[in-house]
Amino acid sequence: MTQFGRARLEDWPLDPEITYLNHGTVGVTPRAVMAAQQAIRDEIERQPARYLIRELAHLHDMPEPEQPRLRAAAAAVGARIGAAGDDLVFVDNATAGANAVLRSLPWGPGDEVLVTDHGYGALALAAEGVIRGAGGVVRTVDLSRAAAGPDAFVDAIARGIGGRTRLAIVDHVTSGSALVLPIERIVAECRKRGVPVLVDGAHVPGAMPLDIGAIGADWYVANLHKWAMAPRSCGILWTPVHRQAAMHAPVLSWGLDRGYTMEFDWMGTRDPSPWLAAPAGFAFLESLGLDALWKWNHMLAWGGAHVLAARWGTAFETPEEMIGCMATVRLPESAGSSPEDAQRLRSALLFEDCIEAPVLCLKDGLHVRVCAQAYNEPGDYERLAEAVASRVG
Ligand SMILES: Cc1ncc(COP(=O)(O)O)c(C=O)c1O
Repeated sequence: MTQFGRARLEDWPLDPEITYLNHGTVGVTPRAVMAAQQAIRDEIERQPARYLIRELAHLHDMPEPEQPRLRAAAAAVGARIGAAGDDLVFVDNATAGANAVLRSLPWGPGDEVLVTDHGYGALALAAEGVIRGAGGVVRTVDLSRAAAGPDAFVDAIARGIGGRTRLAIVDHVTSGSALVLPIERIVAECRKRGVPVLVDGAHVPGAMPLDIGAIGADWYVANLHKWAMAPRSCGILWTPVHRQAAMHAPVLSWGLDRGYTMEFDWMGTRDPSPWLAAPAGFAFLESLGLDALWKWNHMLAWGGAHVLAARWGTAFETPEEMIGCMATVRLPESAGSSPEDAQRLRSALLFEDCIEAPVLCLKDGLHVRVCAQAYNEPGDYERLAEAVASRVG
């Protein structure tokens, strides 16, 4: 059985001097996956034109490869997350996938995109940037009361839908508040009201079991470079067959109007090694033992959150079913209340205490988000608890 904890640090190139509690922000690529990516790059450089023009994807004026390498990688990834390979395309990141969806939809005056105040801010901005020229608006649903549990989230989003809502963007796992949302139920409520849903699953693949097809969404975007151990930059966009004809890549090139996969698989000359190494990322995860890893990570996040809240004298009331492998814990009022206070504490933790963890200024005060990964152990959360307590009393 795999042993988790500090000894596992050897699998990642992380600085052992730093207590790294921030796996979710940009991911950390394991050494084995970096080696797999390098092997792919080495192979590309032996015959770059052949690899990129003839073998990588089906390019408009070249003979169709028997199995384009990107399609093989998409099939290998899809098999792990409940998606048919040809419904999946690789993008740089979740943001790029969401931009593609937003730009592929027709927008008119008064059209609304529904987002939530727990959603990732950059996607709300992307929605605003895309639809404002057409007179559309972004409407933000307030989920602050939803700490009550999953039912409250479903109700709040359902109530937020109006007659002009043309799209809902909902996180599967929220970023700042680190909550696992009841995504199937949210999608079902939106669909019942005729509103298509773009699910932002940036924090999901590799972090927990995922069956994209079973969610029933209209699009699903995610990152593989966070929890699925792929090298950066590796995002995916899933689109069901009935929506593929309307989709356009975020960068248009030779594939324009030649179909979903042809358009996304070639957005000009790029380094495809992160996407081609994505199956190696999943293989590494699987070598750790998925069930054991997820259990360990959940135990650390859930247990760590309680250690922090108890040490700081704050409450941690999130229901356990909404916690995956991250948790966001309120700081004591003495930590301050402004974004500047948050930045100051975050920098002090990193540069003086050697702890990497985001300090967030949320609507209801300052919080710390902690992640849990194979290389973390309970002592990491105790260290953070003490470091903060000694700074803010
Ligand atoms: C929920 C969520 N969505 C989207 C993103 C954007 O990810 P990327 O910057 O890789 O596009 C993040 C990044 O942390 C996120 O947490």
